[in-house]
Amino acid sequence: MLVPFVFIDKISKKFGNVYALKNISLSINCSEVIGICGENGAGKSTLVKLLTGLHQPDEGCIHFDNQIKSIKGPAEAQRLGIALVSQELSLAPDLSVLDNIWLGNQQIPFFHKKSKFLNKAIESLELLGLDASVINRPVGLLSLAEKQLVEIARNLCRDARLILMDEPTATLSDREIELLFKAIKRLKADGKSILYISHRITELFSICDRVSILRNGELIKNTNINEINKTSLIELMIGRELNEIYPLKTKCFGQELLKVNGLNLPGIVQDVNFSLKKGQIIGISGQIGSGASEVIRSLAGLNPLASGDIYIEGDLIKLSSRDKMLKKGISFISEDRAAEGIFLKKDIRENLVVSRFSEVMSFGLLNWVKLNIKAKIFAISVGLDHTRLKDEAQNLSGGNQQKIAFGRNIDSLNIKLLIMNEPTRGVDIGARAEIYLILRQFCEKGFGILFHSTDLEEITGLSDQVITMYRGEIKNFYDQNEINFHDILKDITNVLPDAM
Ligand SMILES: Nc1ncnc2c1ncn2[C@@H]1O[C@H](COP(=O)(O)OP(=O)(O)OP(=O)(O)O)[C@@H](O)[C@H]1O
Ligand SMILES: [Mg+2]
Repeated sequence: MLVPFVFIDKISKKFGNVYALKNISLSINCSEVIGICGENGAGKSTLVKLLTGLHQPDEGCIHFDNQIKSIKGPAEAQRLGIALVSQELSLAPDLSVLDNIWLGNQQIPFFHKKSKFLNKAIESLELLGLDASVINRPVGLLSLAEKQLVEIARNLCRDARLILMDEPTATLSDREIELLFKAIKRLKADGKSILYISHRITELFSICDRVSILRNGELIKNTNINEINKTSLIELMIGRELNEIYPLKTKCFGQELLKVNGLNLPGIVQDVNFSLKKGQIIGISGQIGSGASEVIRSLAGLNPLASGDIYIEGDLIKLSSRDKMLKKGISFISEDRAAEGIFLKKDIRENLVVSRFSEVMSFGLLNWVKLNIKAKIFAISVGLDHTRLKDEAQNLSGGNQQKIAFGRNIDSLNIKLLIMNEPTRGVDIGARAEIYLILRQFCEKGFGILFHSTDLEEITGLSDQVITMYRGEIKNFYDQNEINFHDILKDITNVLPDAM
């Protein structure tokens, strides 16, 4: 039987004139996994921030066990049994798993090695499917998924009952996602509730009992997962029909644009060779540690230790800094928005035209009229709200920040080759479809695209050719008609056919 635990009662939250959430009501039962989905900026993370006490609602209230509670801050949220597992994990890498689990827990600062606390830590780890033997290992040596599980274990030891996960799988490989999903199932069986946010629709169907669909801050629908299909879920999310997510592939390629001969990165990538034709999209698939993202970063000029012969339109070029690669017509869109992507304190307009200020200057001065027009064109082309161009980038939702990175790279003046790492991480499905179309049109002009993604649907859907990598080496090449999920997964996880 479902036991109501939390009841969110008609809450609203406004930022300036924008409603991030509007009159939302939602009940959360024990032993339930609830998916929260919606476009970028729909209000998902704001909901999480209200539950963790980072924001206060403007209207409405939240009930816990039938009592109204105001969550004034993260400490209060913790007392109520609410825990957030985010991508930016808060673990200390040099400390052991055990120390991390009890770190900062005010009840028992120094005596955590006592058997009672050791046992409780082991119990939590085992509940999540982690082996107790990791208990003394420094957290820095664990995989990303294991670190996430340690963070959950830490919250379980603080008696968490509601676990919030905001895009937890965005940085995980497929094997790690499996580990996380097993842990979620165990948590559920143990009576915990999970609020699960993801842009990967397939994931919602495999892990959630229920989904709540948000659009522009409003709750559009709340339904059992087995009473809705993928198509209607997407339609409700984006408010329109979406026939095809991926554009049609083409077989018309031009001459060789990029040739990579003997690319090496000591200890990480060995002897990588391939070539990319004009008009072609090549996807490199590989898990963390496979070298796939390092190949991408090396070709973008970001790995000083990389070596090899790289030709652009037959001209041998030196692998050098990102600026120099840009001059050769190679542009790079990074997965790390905060570090390499956008200027958070600048507004959307300035971020969008940053790489082409010369075109919006008149007589040596910035011409704001030109800048506004140009920025509006870019914004529309990547599905950004062009009425909010003066907002600072830092106030945008994660996915909308990624769209800025696209907007300003896709139409740069002399770009021949676009290199991308995790191009649509955190981007909603409607905007993805728009971006994929823009990428295909970019290639139709005779340019080329090389990208890496851990999202296998994106790899198979977008690429004209897929290159699989495992432990620093290329395993296989798949041309359009050979591309299939099963073989690619087999290559990148190095599993024998019979075992799958
Ligand atoms: N601190 C803030 N100041 C101003 N506006 C904000 C702030 N935080 C969020 N917003 C706005 O509130 C709305 C909801 O943002 P939120 O981050 O909740 O979206 P989201 O559904 O998590 O999107 P994404 O899928 O991109 O992560 C957006 O319009 C966003 O720009
Ligand atoms: Mg968000």
